[in-house]
Amino acid sequence: DLRGVIALDGPSGTGKSTVARRLASTLRSGYLDTGAMYRAVTLAVLRTGGDAAEVARTARLDIGTDPLDPTVLLDGVDVAAEIRGPEVTLAVSEVSAVAEVRRILVDQQRAIIASVVNTQGGIVVEGRDIGTVVAPDAELKVYLTASADARAQRRTRQDTAAGRTATVEGTLADVQRRDNYDSSRAVSPLRKADDAVELDTTDLDLAGVLTSLLAIVDSRG
Ligand code: C5P
Repeated sequence: DLRGVIALDGPSGTGKSTVARRLASTLRSGYLDTGAMYRAVTLAVLRTGGDAAEVARTARLDIGTDPLDPTVLLDGVDVAAEIRGPEVTLAVSEVSAVAEVRRILVDQQRAIIASVVNTQGGIVVEGRDIGTVVAPDAELKVYLTASADARAQRRTRQDTAAGRTATVEGTLADVQRRDNYDSSRAVSPLRKADDAVELDTTDLDLAGVLTSLLAIVDSRG
């Protein structure tokens, strides 16, 4: 089967996180949610009011790589729920656009990836710049897309399920704002790597996306 790194990139609301975790547990690989790292640094910036690069340098981040239990600890405290809240979601793109923040987190991501590949043989890594910057030599790169409407609906369902108030209109505006910001920033903008396989998930449910991904993996393995 496919060993090494599987890079999963794309805008928000494509079902990336859920699919990445399922894919990782099916393949018995590790899992890394790089968005959670940018979110945790953003939370620390909001809490301390400090300079983003300085916060990224000093915050103690512990990111779990078990797809069944991807823990996120900030200075030893579980922040997995809080980093998905509206305050962090509103501020995360701005923090992620700081070149020094990206340099620090990309270094950490490469170290985590190397160690998990070493011990477990494989890892599924999700984000915006995995195929282009973090792991340009990944064995497989997949770029997930979906219509803005489908993405807003998925995000709204996730938010509601997690007990957060959300409307499709509000979420659509947020999804579009964040994607514009992420795609137009100077450092490592969101874009499909030339050698990535593009998968449009607009009309697929979770099982459908997973089946397509496993077919892609099999065809490469
Ligand atoms: O994937 P998620 O929605 O949690 O990511 C939150 C934000 O973190 C994105 O909107 C983007 O600004 C940033 N991000 C990034 N590079 C990554 C992963 C996330 O810039 N590899």
